[in-house]
Amino acid sequence: MHHRHRRIPPAEGTLGVLLPGMGAVASTFIAGVELVKKGLARPVGSLTQLQTIRLGKRYENRAPLIKDFVPLAPLERLVFGGWDLFADDAFTAASKAEVLRPDQLAAVRRELAAVKPMPAVFDPAYLRNLKAAHVKSGKSKMDLAEQVIADIEAFRKKNSCSRLVMLWCGSTEILPERSACHESPEAFEQGLRDSDPAIPPSMIYAYAAIKCAVAYGNGAPNLSADVPALVEMAEDAGVPIMGKDFKTGQTLMKTTVAPMLKARMLALTGWYSTNILGNRDGEVLDDPGSFKTKEKSKMSVLDSILEPERYPDLYGKYHHKVRIDYYPPRGDAKEGWDNIDIRGWLDMPMQIKINFLCRDSILAAPICLDLVLFLDLAQRAGLKGVQEWLSFYFKSPQCREDLKPEHDLFIQHLKLKNTLRLLMGEEVLDHSGLDYYDAQKGAAPSFPAPRPAARRRAAKAAR
Ligand SMILES: NC(=O)c1ccc[n+]([C@@H]2O[C@H](COP(=O)([O-])OP(=O)(O)OC[C@H]3O[C@@H](n4cnc5c(N)ncnc54)[C@H](O)[C@@H]3O)[C@@H](O)[C@H]2O)c1
Repeated sequence: MHHRHRRIPPAEGTLGVLLPGMGAVASTFIAGVELVKKGLARPVGSLTQLQTIRLGKRYENRAPLIKDFVPLAPLERLVFGGWDLFADDAFTAASKAEVLRPDQLAAVRRELAAVKPMPAVFDPAYLRNLKAAHVKSGKSKMDLAEQVIADIEAFRKKNSCSRLVMLWCGSTEILPERSACHESPEAFEQGLRDSDPAIPPSMIYAYAAIKCAVAYGNGAPNLSADVPALVEMAEDAGVPIMGKDFKTGQTLMKTTVAPMLKARMLALTGWYSTNILGNRDGEVLDDPGSFKTKEKSKMSVLDSILEPERYPDLYGKYHHKVRIDYYPPRGDAKEGWDNIDIRGWLDMPMQIKINFLCRDSILAAPICLDLVLFLDLAQRAGLKGVQEWLSFYFKSPQCREDLKPEHDLFIQHLKLKNTLRLLMGEEVLDHSGLDYYDAQKGAAPSFPAPRPAARRRAAKAAR
């Protein structure tokens, strides 16, 4: 079935990318985009830059690059800004983060040094392990929100931006108590005026973005825009929002292996995950409050994929443990270990071990790029509110309160690509169809059968 093509305005003009939090992830993202723009590196890990999308039937051989299929902003038109608790420009932040090599950073030094963070909104009640040095002061949280709104508008004007996207790359905040001020736009704005303690800085940035009609993504597990008040405001203002918590190392593995166990009906008795990392993110997560936020985000994925309520015998009683240890010598080069205890035929026990020597920010940077480009696409396409089709990129995908989030990486991937197909009026693909088998039974095929010579050539190529 073909759908009506939503008339999506082209991605003309400059796209401003605003990043609250300009540490390891943000600086690796910006440096990467600048290196790619100069032809000095490849955007490995980015679907928007590298992946193709199959359209129609297999024999049609239509598989353009995603970036040639949907109208995305070109990298040349991105301009970066943001806020941080420290005044370091993006070159200094990237040098301190030690994710990229000095020779890589030297090649884009001028571009990175030009990205200087604006003073941040900070509240030590939500972030205990960092001593902020570059912050705003205000009479109330509403006053702080208005300052962020003024920053956004000044950035828009100075850089002649046609459109803007904001992506939270700041530290993981302690979760606030769920409070009445989160429930409706009116209560939230009153909460800002009263400086309600249940409003953390990330919600103030999200509010400011929505007020300025700027799409908002959240790469950390803090609630940020994931409260009814801000979701309603985003829907009313026609602003796409999505979070939470970039799906990078261990959870990427988990949401890949768990669907396999379930697909094959292999039982799970235990999953023990532990990590060491030594960057500033690790330092923040060393605080039990911030760790609790992260743990919540990491724990939910298995239950949601395995559905213990449907399969109590296979998944009703497994033991799940997640640990993160701050270990400075490793910097951003995180190491994760997973021990997975499973059972097979006749309940015979087996084990899977995964040892992932990853680089946190190298995995997160392409996600930042894709999210910025897809959130901007969503806004031009008129998609407002929570963008569930972007669940693929998140550990705790935001979704409607009455629904369960989808964690299975493969379903998320299919959903993302099918959403792109729908946006462009192409047929949704579910990779099945009975006409194939009808053809084998001798019925008239509804697709062209390959000619004998073509079949021989294909068989030879397959050998
Ligand atoms: N790298 C990954 O694989 C990954 C995966 C999932 C989530 N995340 C999350 O992404 C975020 C960034 O990670 P990182 O490695 O870049 O951490 P980082 O510590 O290097 O950078 C975070 C930056 O945010 C700043 N910050 C904190 N509160 C702020 C505020 N209120 N306003 C403005 N700036 C603020 C800090 O000063 C710091 O520079 C973290 O929350 C992390 O948990 C990272």
